[in-house]
Amino acid sequence: MPVKIGIIGGSGLDDPDILENRKEEFVETAFGKPSDALIHGTIQGIDCILLARHGRKHNISPTNVNYRANIWALKEAGCTHIIVSTASGSLQEEVKPGDLVFVDTFIDRTNKREQTFYDGKTPGCPKGVLHIPMHEPYSKGLREVLIETAKDLNIPFHSSGTVVVIEGPRFSSRAESNMYRSFGASLVNMTNVPEVVLAKEAGILYAAVAMATDYDCWRDTGEKVSVENVLQTFRENANKVTKLFLAAVPKIAKLEWADEIDELKSMVASAVM
Ligand code: ADE
Repeated sequence: MPVKIGIIGGSGLDDPDILENRKEEFVETAFGKPSDALIHGTIQGIDCILLARHGRKHNISPTNVNYRANIWALKEAGCTHIIVSTASGSLQEEVKPGDLVFVDTFIDRTNKREQTFYDGKTPGCPKGVLHIPMHEPYSKGLREVLIETAKDLNIPFHSSGTVVVIEGPRFSSRAESNMYRSFGASLVNMTNVPEVVLAKEAGILYAAVAMATDYDCWRDTGEKVSVENVLQTFRENANKVTKLFLAAVPKIAKLEWADEIDELKSMVASAVM
């Protein structure tokens, strides 16, 4: 089964140079316009599509990202897999700024976002009401490929973690940060929900590489999160994510995904009322 891999780049990782044979396409979906052009291209001959989550000018806030249009556009373009990067605050001492975390679950604290394609009102939306199970939001198989790739490349990583997704755009108060720590979470960010949920609804295998860029604001000592330290850590470590994606794509293409994709699609079909 041929794969096509969507790559959603977060703040600091939407460098189109990772793709060869690039071609830009502006599309409109039933759910509106994606954040920016779809950049079609290849990595070692494998079809990929790059999309800048916040737009290439970084002018779309986490709340205003049209997550539905982004995922629907990648689905309509034929993506079987989506891998994403996301800058995140660390909630645990051992998750150091610059570390990568292959998150395996989330806690949703967003409150202003459309979380389903099955909304019963958008012309062209799929029919019915979808109650999608979320016990395993991220694709296990795809996460495993990313973990193996990080091992091969000697990139420091954490193989699992819970991410708390906040509405933003403000950062958390110290009380909130401590509450998220008490949840047992590893990271906090502003974008993984509803992206992961919508990818699942769309029947696309999805995995996220979260980069810890700061220690949020729960620690007694040290710097508190700021735009400056998020961007600086991301700039200094973005090459890890780029290398990881460049090496993971050919590995993904070598594997057989038909069973996992069929299982996901039949799970979605059986969850529609
Ligand atoms: N993205 C990067 N650092 C963050 C933090 N501390 N909180 C929320 N989103 C973030």
